[in-house]
Amino acid sequence: MELTAKNVCSSWNVPSSQFAKNTFSPIITIVDGMKLTPNPEKEMIALSIGDPTVFGNLVVPIQAEESVIEAVKNKKFNGYGPSFGIEKARAAIAQYSSREGYTITAKDVILTSGCSGALDLCISCLCDPGRNLLIPRPGFTVYKTLADSHGIIVKSYNLLLNKSWQVDLTHLESLIDDKTAAIVVNSPSNPCGSVYSKEHLIEILNLAEQYKIPIISDEIYEHFVYSGNTYYPIASLTETVPVLSCSGLTKRFIVPGWRLGWIIIADKNNVFEAEIRKGLISLSQRILGPSSIIQGAVEGILTKTPQSFFKETIDFVETNASLFYDNIVRVPGLHPVMPQGAMYMMIGIEMEKFPEYMDDVAFTEALVNEERVFCLPAKCFQYPGFFRVVLTIPRDKLLIACGRIAEFCKRHYHDGGGGGDVKVNGSN
Ligand SMILES: Cc1ncc(COP(=O)(O)O)c(C=O)c1O
Repeated sequence: MELTAKNVCSSWNVPSSQFAKNTFSPIITIVDGMKLTPNPEKEMIALSIGDPTVFGNLVVPIQAEESVIEAVKNKKFNGYGPSFGIEKARAAIAQYSSREGYTITAKDVILTSGCSGALDLCISCLCDPGRNLLIPRPGFTVYKTLADSHGIIVKSYNLLLNKSWQVDLTHLESLIDDKTAAIVVNSPSNPCGSVYSKEHLIEILNLAEQYKIPIISDEIYEHFVYSGNTYYPIASLTETVPVLSCSGLTKRFIVPGWRLGWIIIADKNNVFEAEIRKGLISLSQRILGPSSIIQGAVEGILTKTPQSFFKETIDFVETNASLFYDNIVRVPGLHPVMPQGAMYMMIGIEMEKFPEYMDDVAFTEALVNEERVFCLPAKCFQYPGFFRVVLTIPRDKLLIACGRIAEFCKRHYHDGGGGGDVKVNGSN
C-alpha cells in the first residue's frame, strides 16, 4: 500500500490528552518531591497510607471472605452485568443503607469502582468545565484531582480547627455563586476525623437549600464513629435538598482492593429526575461497572458480617487515637487534634519552634530520614503546618512511632534556646 503524505513522518510524537495533563494527585506530587533517605538502622513505620490492610492486623470479616468464595463457585458472576450494577446487589445496598424515614430502593443505587469511582461519576455528572465545585479544606485530595481533570474550578471552603473541624458556614456561603454546581461534604472525614452533628449537617443543608445547590456527600467512613458520636447520612436529614451519597465497602469491611463503591441518589423532590439520574447511568456505561464477583458477593457481605466485627475495629482504632493523642500532646511543638471518627489524626506543628524546617513537608521529610516514621504532610490536604497520621496500625508500632516522633521533636525544638521536656511511652 502506498502511504499518503499525511501518514509519513520522520519521527514519533505522541502527545497525551489535555485531560491526562490536567490530572494529578497532590499526594503523589508532594511525596515524590521529598528527598527521602530513611535511616537504615530503623524499621520503617508508615503512618501515611490510608489502607487499613497494610499492617495485616485488621483482617477481612470471615463472612465477607466466604461470600466472595461462594460468588466465585456459583459461576453466575463471571459475565457482564448492567453497567450500574446487578439488581440483587443494588437491592442489598439499598436495604443496608435505609433507615427510619430514609428509604432507599434498588433503583436509587448505582455501583461503582470504589468510592472514588462514585465521586468521579457524581462530579462528572453535576459539573461542566468552567463551573465550580466547593470542597472542604483540609480535605481528601481526590475531589480536586477529579475536578481539575475536567477543567472544573475548585473552591475550598474552610473547616474550623477550633470547632472540631466544622464547616465555616460564612466562608462556604461567600464562595457560592451562579456557577456553583455542587458542594462536597465529607463526614466522618479524612484527614480530620471529624463527625458532624445532626444540627451542623442541617445548617449545611439549609445553605444548600437557600442557594439550590446539590450536595455530593462522601460517606466512605459511614458508621466509623467513636463513642459519644453519632453518624447521620446527610441525605436522611432533608426533604428538599438533592444529595448524591457516595460510599462503599472499602473502609468498614477492610477491603480497599475489592473496589466496590456506590452512589445513592437521594432525591425526595425529584430534582435529579430530569437529567442527573440518566446522566449517572450514561456515565456508568463508560467502564461497565465494578467487578461482577464482588457484586455477586455483596448481599452476603452486608447481611452476614456481624455487628461485633465493626465494634471491634472501631474500638481498636478509637483506643489507638487516644493513645496517640496522649503521647503526642506532651511533645513540645506538636498539637494533636483528637478525632471523633474515621481512621486519622491531624497534628499541628508549631513551625516557628522548628526553625530548621521551612514547612510541614520539610519537617516530615526530616522525620522519616532520621526516625523512619513516615507521616503525610498536610500540605497534601491544602492545610500546611500540620501532618496526618493513620490510626489503624498495631499498638506496639504506634507506641514506637510516638516515641520516635517525640525524640525527633526533642532534638529539633527551639524555644529561646531550651529543648523540650519530652516524656512519652514506648520511646525507642
Ligand atoms: C474521604 C475518602 N473518600 C473516598 C476514598 C476512596 O475510597 P475508595 O478506595 O473506595 O475509592 C477515600 C480513601 O481513602 C477517602 O479517604
